[in-house]
Amino acid sequence: MQTRGMTNSTYTMTGGPTVARMGYGAMQLAGPRVWGPPADRGEAIAVLRTAVELGVDHIDTADFYGPHVVNEILREALAPFSGDLTIVTKVGSVRDENGGWPHARSPEQLRDQVHSNLRTLGVDALDVVNLRVGGGADGHSTVPGSIAEPFGALAEMRAEGLIRHLGVSVVDAEQVAEARAIAPIVTVQNWYNVAHRGDEELIASLAEQGISYVPFWPLGGFSPLQSGVLDAVAARLGQTPNAVALTWLLQRSPNVLLIPGTSKEAHLRENVAAAELELPADAVAELDAIG
Ligand SMILES: NC(=O)c1ccc[n+]([C@@H]2O[C@H](COP(=O)([O-])OP(=O)(O)OC[C@H]3O[C@@H](n4cnc5c(N)ncnc54)[C@H](OP(=O)(O)O)[C@@H]3O)[C@@H](O)[C@H]2O)c1
Repeated sequence: MQTRGMTNSTYTMTGGPTVARMGYGAMQLAGPRVWGPPADRGEAIAVLRTAVELGVDHIDTADFYGPHVVNEILREALAPFSGDLTIVTKVGSVRDENGGWPHARSPEQLRDQVHSNLRTLGVDALDVVNLRVGGGADGHSTVPGSIAEPFGALAEMRAEGLIRHLGVSVVDAEQVAEARAIAPIVTVQNWYNVAHRGDEELIASLAEQGISYVPFWPLGGFSPLQSGVLDAVAARLGQTPNAVALTWLLQRSPNVLLIPGTSKEAHLRENVAAAELELPADAVAELDAIG
């Protein structure tokens, strides 16, 4: 196992920001089921400040985490935001009184969500906004169909200066192409990890275009990764399965940017340290075979 050093490990999105490839996903900073405040607000703030100290300059959030709670904690921990920090938020859903995540994608609803993000983050313009599409039985799978109307609404808000850069989330290749015909995108955020590998071709085609690919649930999300192969490779290398899963993603393609989520400082440090590792070729081949 070699080390390579995170400082060399940045990615420049075509027409967009340059960020360290190891970022942070803030969803875990809300309460249980991403609802309400966290049990320990002080630790949530410490996690964010430590992330930035460790070199994280790409944080993923959403106004519907909490709702509002995570954006408010981000603001309390890090505002005024450094120009070097890229905050990526997403729109396309709201929360209902049962904690559900109903779609909300009409142009008016999207405008409300953009303004709510601006308010809760306390900024004049949002760095990157992803239109979250998808749905299906699990709520996180792609569903074919035109996204021209909602994405067009975001493109208008970009032209007005409310949004700097656009992305799409939980989308298939056709929806990516449709969005790109309307306005440039800098990022795609989909469900992908060592055990869930639907997007191999999409990752490669985005890499050719200089568009970042940001896998959500890099550690399995609500169902931690369970793989005997991953456990065996990690044990052989003297690393944790989570660290190996993150390093595998970083080695998958240069346009892959990570946003592992955690509510704990110790886990954050472990995840960020995974950007320093390098898996040997035989380990990569074994892990490739999981998918
Ligand atoms: N676009 C979308 O639809 C979408 C959907 C889901 C998520 N996201 C974004 O993607 C980010 C990442 O997803 P995620 O947070 O759901 O899942 P994840 O990063 O795959 O895993 C997070 C889970 O792993 C645990 N964990 C993290 N680091 C660990 C470590 N070193 N050791 C042991 N356990 C560890 C966390 O618990 P602890 O808090 O105990 O560490 C948490 O339960 C989110 O924060 C969010 O920003 C986007």
